Amino acid sequence: MKLQVITSNQGKLREFQAALPQVEIIHNDADCDEIQADTLEEVVLSCIEQLRSKGLNNFILDDSGLFVDGLQGFPGVYSSYVLRTIGNAGLLQLMDGRTERQARFKSCIGALIDSEVIIAHGECQGKIAFAESGTEGFGFDPIFIPDGYEVSFAELSLAEKNKISHRGNALRAFSAQFNSR
Ligand code: IMP
Repeated sequence: MKLQVITSNQGKLREFQAALPQVEIIHNDADCDEIQADTLEEVVLSCIEQLRSKGLNNFILDDSGLFVDGLQGFPGVYSSYVLRTIGNAGLLQLMDGRTERQARFKSCIGALIDSEVIIAHGECQGKIAFAESGTEGFGFDPIFIPDGYEVSFAELSLAEKNKISHRGNALRAFSAQFNSR
């Protein structure tokens, strides 16, 4: 089956391709207006309906965010805005002097397959580093150290990140639903 991955993020696209070897991935950078919402799932469902109304079918997308415990879950659903504005350096500044550095990445995957909606979730627990490190991946990867590791996501290969990441976990949950249709 051919599945269109809706994203303008090349890093995400590579992770989708690696995690879904059973489907033929086609890249589509169709746009949807990201609504302001309190949850990733609301954003995903809104995007799915916007794209469905444009006549698209058999596609998959994800909305993700970094939720920092010590910042009451911020930046969460505002992750993309925060990266665009203050970036990793700004987030590290917000964490200055804080010893509580626990955080989690969350991913909500949404797909429209043969006009039916599939939703899957994934998380990855970790902590915010004290400095950026690594050159792999994208976004917040250089400042996120997954639990059980001493290095950031940006120091892991794509395959290693996918094994433990929020998106990898969400894509495995998606695959289970997709395969049992
Ligand atoms: P989006 O709205 O799902 O595209 O993601 C929100 C923000 O979080 C974007 O700026 C992404 O770069 C960032 N982000 C999403 N997933 C990851 C990830 O796996 N690693 C690092 N940053 C991510």
